[in-house]
Amino acid sequence: MNKSKHHNRLLVELIRSEKWYYLASVVSVGFASYFMFLVPTIGKVVIDRVIDHPRLTTPGLIENLIQSVGGVDVLARNLWIAGLAIVAATVLAGLFMYLKDYLAAKACEGTVRDLRNRLYAHLHRLPEKYLGNADSGDILQRCTSDIDTLREFLTVQVMNIGRTVVLLCIMIPLMLAQSVAMSALSLVLLPVVFYFAWHFFGRIKVLFQEVEEAEGELTNIVQENLTGIRVVRAFARQAHECAKFEEKNHLYSELNYRLICMLANFWSLSDLLCLAQGGVLLIGGGWLVAHDQASMGTYFAFIGYTTILIWPIRQLGQELSEASKATVSIGRIQEILNVPEETDQEGSAQSGVTLSGRITFNDLSFGYDANKPVLRKLNFDIAAGETVAIVGPTGAGKSTIIRLLMRLYDYDMGSIRLDGQELFSIDRTTVRQHIGTLLQEPFLFSRSLRENIKFGRRQASDEDMFLSSNDASVHHTIQGFSRGYETVIGERGVSLSGGQKQRVTLSRTLLQDTPILILDDTLSAVDSVTERNIIQALHKKRGEQTLLIITHRISVCREADRILVMQNGGLSAQGSHEQLIDQPGFYRDLWGIQSGQNREFQTSLSNPVGKEHRSG
Ligand SMILES: Nc1ncnc2c1ncn2[C@@H]1O[C@H](COP(=O)(O)OP(=O)(O)OP(=O)(O)O)[C@@H](O)[C@H]1O
Ligand SMILES: [Mg+2]
Repeated sequence: MNKSKHHNRLLVELIRSEKWYYLASVVSVGFASYFMFLVPTIGKVVIDRVIDHPRLTTPGLIENLIQSVGGVDVLARNLWIAGLAIVAATVLAGLFMYLKDYLAAKACEGTVRDLRNRLYAHLHRLPEKYLGNADSGDILQRCTSDIDTLREFLTVQVMNIGRTVVLLCIMIPLMLAQSVAMSALSLVLLPVVFYFAWHFFGRIKVLFQEVEEAEGELTNIVQENLTGIRVVRAFARQAHECAKFEEKNHLYSELNYRLICMLANFWSLSDLLCLAQGGVLLIGGGWLVAHDQASMGTYFAFIGYTTILIWPIRQLGQELSEASKATVSIGRIQEILNVPEETDQEGSAQSGVTLSGRITFNDLSFGYDANKPVLRKLNFDIAAGETVAIVGPTGAGKSTIIRLLMRLYDYDMGSIRLDGQELFSIDRTTVRQHIGTLLQEPFLFSRSLRENIKFGRRQASDEDMFLSSNDASVHHTIQGFSRGYETVIGERGVSLSGGQKQRVTLSRTLLQDTPILILDDTLSAVDSVTERNIIQALHKKRGEQTLLIITHRISVCREADRILVMQNGGLSAQGSHEQLIDQPGFYRDLWGIQSGQNREFQTSLSNPVGKEHRSG
């Protein structure tokens, strides 16, 4: 109950924004209905007044109209005038129908466009906590196919329902005014036609849903296989994947076939009902005329009225039951809109501050789930301009530190300070403008390299872009491409190697030129020489920029002023390379393995048959 109230509110809110178009469209449909009504009515006047009873008079407007063309005799000799009037009424009805469709389309497109914009802007403001757990396919569906359902609802269903209601409201009183008995005969089966359509489409809805789900599954398989086509080929699983597709495809076409059969049954049965309504009027109306209860003209006019009314009524049953599909979609869209946004302005008292880059974690505890702590009473203090390496086993919580620093997640136990100010007192935008991060999974947009690199600083000059690319050791690689910086990245950056992608994203972050720079395992896919070049380039700003490097490589740690060793969500040791290799623990083990391997490798190169040397 409460939920549907919410849905209605969204709908009312959306419609209200284009209310004048909707209103004008309803007025147009009113005029169109009236002119439609006139067509059989003109026929009736001609039959009754001109052909049957030329001596009588008709009160009101019609008599005036007859007089204005020169009286009944003139009209009887020039029946083409009535024909012309019928054509004129039909044309006018058509024009108003066109106007209604035009206005309705404008209103609906406006409404849907606004909703799409609103939803998209909202998505960008959803908290990471929500997005991290959400199924992106589901969100995508809500933003595309649910919006489409809503669009169809507004353009087709609401408009048709509105048109039929207006038509009924205008025609039924006018019909009743002419003959109650004839009206009863014309309308008797209409409720049955309506109920049959409404009931049928209500029942078939389940099947419609099954068809849609089957279609969704098919799309999913295709999408997943396209994204993972290399994996499928690498594991030689094409046949298996095709078989899986065939199975779903079979189900989909089976369901579609059932749907088509049921629809065919419906249309033929409801055609029969509509024709039966015509039959009732023909027989009953004929009897009334034969017994002088109604005029020939009235009989003629009512046959026309029934024809105008019956098809929209049959449609009305279908539209009403299909409208419930739209309420499901509206509910799904509303659900996303109801998720509270993360506000940039939180802590806006501090917006616009300039930070020098000191980072302090004090007794910080944090877990993505409240009962599963990832960081446990973490303490460290990084001075502005310091270069710090963070090492630790996988899952220790290293990337979590970045997510907290970027204010992607909020913490509630302990404190994080930037330049001595509590992090959540500084607004999110300011925080993110001061911290350049290179995330563990490099992501590039399917745009040109130039656009990708200038993503964080659009107004940057080309010289700055070349400099940052040079520092990221990717400038020469890019210049080697035939289109240079204009090269457009294929989907998911397919046309670049893993190491190239890492370096392009590094260039993008370097160009941002922030007082704090955090690299999360960024150099994992580059060779040792490139790694050395990049580290040297980063050192150009040593002392001016706080640099946090999360890494698994001892060679990177050696260059840092200090190394933090993270284990199990806390610091297990910290110090310089020399200090840490002097004490037993994770770092010394890591160094032992990496330097040991190097030594073995070098020994085997210089002395292929040689003996093994090992030193602590
Ligand atoms: N969005 C999330 N929701 C719930 N748990 C998460 C989420 N992201 C990470 N975790 C969990 O938090 C823990 C720490 O993850 P984190 O990504 O910080 O590790 P890490 O130290 O960066 O590891 P790696 O070296 O593999 O990158 C892991 O146990 C992980 O399963
Ligand atoms: Mg990580």
